[in-house]
Amino acid sequence: MKVIVCENYDEMSAKAFEVMKELLDAKKDAVLGLATGSSPVGLYKEMIQYHKDGYSYKDIKSYNLDEYVGIDRKDPQSYYTFMYENLFKDIDIDLNNTHVPYGSTEADCKAYEDALSEVSIDLQVLGIGQNGHIGFNEPGTPFETLTHIVDLTENTREANARFFDNDINKVPTQAISMGIGTIMKSKKVLLVANGENKADAVKAEDRKSTRLNSSHLYISYAVFCLK
Ligand code: GLP
Repeated sequence: MKVIVCENYDEMSAKAFEVMKELLDAKKDAVLGLATGSSPVGLYKEMIQYHKDGYSYKDIKSYNLDEYVGIDRKDPQSYYTFMYENLFKDIDIDLNNTHVPYGSTEADCKAYEDALSEVSIDLQVLGIGQNGHIGFNEPGTPFETLTHIVDLTENTREANARFFDNDINKVPTQAISMGIGTIMKSKKVLLVANGENKADAVKAEDRKSTRLNSSHLYISYAVFCLK
């Protein structure tokens, strides 16, 4: 895993976009894996600017990592709404080509995994939770896990309460998430981690990537912002 350490959020976003741009320029019909959270928002702004500068996303496909269970797609707190507001509405991607998992059952998980098995993600963007969660895979989730329903930990719900009026009781208790096994099928993985409080999590992923790279591709680049 190549770790690119940056001084500030803007530099982190620009570096992450360099990785993304290389793919976008090489493959007009690339398949992107996308993530929510505050860390990739600057990358998405760069992607929007690239569209304003003339790039067309009309043949690009996207697949998101995760979604809360029990929240309507149109709810302001849904990850679908997050993606729409922070990226999709400002680029010319065909909304039929965007995919965000949805549902609460085994069949919903299988349907998402089946859809993913028909494509090959060229670049998966990841954020990381302070405790090291990837998507909604908590540390210790077996690496072979595919899309599944997760019971969110207290720690993750507390961390995400900032998006729910700082009220942990409003944070859903479950999510549907790609598993690490799903993510590891991607051709490349770009981890975007913002803030000093993510340093330990990034270091742990670096160790894991080194260990796993002998047989699998895991995280290819981590763009980490110190502040
Ligand atoms: C949520 C998402 C994760 C994301 C994490 C960190 O829990 N499910 O995919 O990585 O938040 O978000 P942030 O970048 O805002 O710290």
